[in-house]
Parts: sequence; structure tokens; C-alpha cells
Amino acid sequence: MLKIAPSVLAADFTCLKQEIERVDTADYLHVDVMDGRFVPSISYGPPIIAAIARITPLPLDVHLMVEEPEHLLEEILAAGQGKIDCITVHVEACRHLHRTLQVIKSLKVKAGAALNPATPISYLKYVAPLLDRVLIMTVNPGYGGQDFLWETIPKIKDAIRLLESLDVSKEIEVDGGIDPQTSQLVVAAGAEVLVAGSAIFGATHPHHIIDELRRAGEV
Ligand code: DX5
Ligand code: ZN
Repeated sequence: MLKIAPSVLAADFTCLKQEIERVDTADYLHVDVMDGRFVPSISYGPPIIAAIARITPLPLDVHLMVEEPEHLLEEILAAGQGKIDCITVHVEACRHLHRTLQVIKSLKVKAGAALNPATPISYLKYVAPLLDRVLIMTVNPGYGGQDFLWETIPKIKDAIRLLESLDVSKEIEVDGGIDPQTSQLVVAAGAEVLVAGSAIFGATHPHHIIDELRRAGEV
């Protein structure tokens, strides 16, 4: 069943509580942490995640766009106050990816590995047993509101084929430029969790867009 994860990055932070209530029919709330090093921009960290966790009934899908994310894991987990479903780290940001995924698993949350558009899927091969989720970035990470990169469609298919060849099945998530049009293509390619920021929070009625994105899974 297709899951929808609105990205809080696109919310109006002057009224975060109301914004989060506007997306309460989604499956997860996607939380983007940016450090100004792995990606150029800085978003927010544990104190804001703690505030979000207090407001939302939804499980949190934490996307760490930070260098050496292992130093942040425990603080993020504490900020989530039991609401964190999954912590995803970028393979490009981890010197010891295998160990970092082991630590995430030891925290009793799902572990995800994210791949930038230029990163080969072969990075997944030797860590596959530790993964619950694979995040195929469909834009270069760092900003909301960017155009979807079409070349990521064959990559989603390649990642699924690789995982099948390893005889493992992982949740495939996509993030960046997802809207009711691009959702059809990524779902046809095999995506199961759709992250969408501007398409959902920029809408007058976010519930309608969430429904529309979900319908991509029904065709
Ligand atoms: C980008 C972030 C995304 C971002 C998506 O680096 O990881 O989660 O918020 O925003 P949209 O859906 O607007 O592309
Ligand atoms: Zn994200």
C-alpha cells in the first residue's frame, strides 16, 4: 500500500501547528535535517523535531542530510519522543555506513539509506541486510521546490532489480519534485513511499493532494 509523507520543510513555520494539522491524513511526516555542509542549506535540528513530535499524531520519517550523522542519532531519537519510525542517512555522508546502520537498528527504529541522484545503487549491496528502506533522491538534496529529475526513474527500477537479485525486499521511498503527475511515474517504477513538500503544503487543500498522490498507487 502506497504511503504518503509530507515534508515539513515546505510548511509555513510561523504557524507550524496548524500546518501539521493540515496533513494529518498522511502516513508519515517527513522531517529534513540539513547541516550546511552535506548540503548547502541549514534547516532545523533536534529542538524543532521535539516540537513537531509533540504536535503530530503521525510517525516521523527522519531524513538526515548531514555529514557524519552518527554523532546526531541519539539526540534525534530523544527529540522524537517515541514517534520516530525511520531514520535515513545518506550513503555519501557516512564513512562507516555499515556501522551507522547497525547503530540505527540498535535504537529500535527502521534504518534507511539515501542515494543522491549521481550515486550508484551498488552502494546498497553489502548493507542490504541492515536496511528497512531505500531512499532514491529524485532531486539533488538541499532544497524544496526543485524540478523532478527524470533520469531517476530507471534508477528506481535498477535498485529494485538489485534488491530482488539479493533476495531481499525493502521499502522504496522517493523524495524531491513529487506531485500528482510525477507520482504516477515513480509508482509505476516501484516507489512505495512518496515524500512531497511543496505539492502538499503549497496546496489550498493538502488533504486533496494527499488523496491524489495515493491514487497513483491504484492505477
Ligand atoms: C530535499 C528534501 C525534500 C524536500 C522535498 O532535499 O529532502 O524532502 O522537502 O521538497 P519538494 O517536494 O518540494 O521537492
Ligand atoms: Zn527529504
